[in-house]
Amino acid sequence: MSNLYFHFPFCKQACHYCNFHFSTAIKSKDLIWDAMIKELQLRSDEVKSPLESIYFGGGSPSLISPEKIDSLLKKIKNQFSVLNTVEITLEVNPDDVTKNYLIELKQAGINRLSLGTQSFFDEDLKLMNRAHNSDQAIEALENVTNQFQNFSIDLIYGMPNSNITSWEKNIQRALKFNPPHISAYALTVEKKTVLYDQIKNKKIELISDEEVKEQYDLLVLKMNTLGFVNYEFSNFGKPGFFSINNQNYWNGKSYIGIGPSAHSYDGDVLRSWNISNNQLYVKSISSGELNFEKEKLSSKDLYNEYIMTGLRKIEGLSLSYVKIKFGKPYAEYLEAQVDKNLKSRNFYWDGDYLKISQKAKFLTDGLAADLFRI
Ligand SMILES: C[S@@+](CC[C@H](N)C(=O)[O-])C[C@H]1O[C@@H](n2cnc3c(N)ncnc32)[C@H](O)[C@@H]1O
Ligand code: SF4
Repeated sequence: MSNLYFHFPFCKQACHYCNFHFSTAIKSKDLIWDAMIKELQLRSDEVKSPLESIYFGGGSPSLISPEKIDSLLKKIKNQFSVLNTVEITLEVNPDDVTKNYLIELKQAGINRLSLGTQSFFDEDLKLMNRAHNSDQAIEALENVTNQFQNFSIDLIYGMPNSNITSWEKNIQRALKFNPPHISAYALTVEKKTVLYDQIKNKKIELISDEEVKEQYDLLVLKMNTLGFVNYEFSNFGKPGFFSINNQNYWNGKSYIGIGPSAHSYDGDVLRSWNISNNQLYVKSISSGELNFEKEKLSSKDLYNEYIMTGLRKIEGLSLSYVKIKFGKPYAEYLEAQVDKNLKSRNFYWDGDYLKISQKAKFLTDGLAADLFRI
């Protein structure tokens, strides 16, 4: 089975915190789109039928016209076998949403939306330099709930000037729309972003780690009591609405990433990533060449990744899987590292599965690093 990911590298304006690959030179979007379609043709032998999920991410794929998405999905369905249950997600920016746009997306075959809401406060949205305001977020969500059953709301917590009360209001506002899925990410300060400079120049002050943890813990508590499953660290879904794309990614299944900067994984030891430059991407694809780098993952790399993704998932990580996949020395190393940490009660064994205790959840990434092989 395969999963297809399309990275659409354009945005109307640059959010101050974001270092994903995108350009605001929107006039060349059709050129890139055509090159992406050509890349899929060049790589068609990598697609292992049937397709389980198709994901349009970015950048802002809601800048693509529904006609173009319709035509690509028709091509895909003609050329490859696609599961009846295929999940086809599009990341949507609130300022791109109109009732007609959503209807046309649905007709084209999109069956899941991820709405980049981020916050319902204009102060936050301004500070983020988002292209939408809170009224637009609300209007977009009203339209989305009328058209789509399967959708997710993206939120960012740990914002400068936020506190537990403002964050709780944000969660409440999101929940009013009865979403079956929420993804919430802690604001991360990435290098080469405006936010990074603003913090360095003391124009903006971050809140403390303790306050960020408090916001995350509140989110987990609230979502759990409302019947959401925190199936991965940042992802909360009602049963039946966990994202297939995300789960396949965390479960180490293969995916083919199309478009500038998109990553691919063969499900075994090969990872590759396309060039993160729109002009050079078009140039190579138009001459029939793929421009990417690749790496062969070692057992140590794969073990470390399994530890990280395993601990972030609700199932935890399996000791017997580590033994079968990586060998006895890895399993013994894992057990010894966990033993050192068991007293702190951050980890616990649930049969064969190692999990993170509720109180330590926010620290998952750091705790996973304690189990890495270096
Ligand atoms: C890269 S965006 C693409 C989708 C769409 N353009 C949007 O902004 O919603 C996917 C998600 O990553 C989040 N994101 C990007 N950079 C982040 C950062 N530094 N900290 C927290 N979340 C971030 C975005 O806010 C968004 O919810
Ligand atoms: S967060 Fe989304 S809209 Fe903002 S710059 Fe990044 S990809 Fe573009």
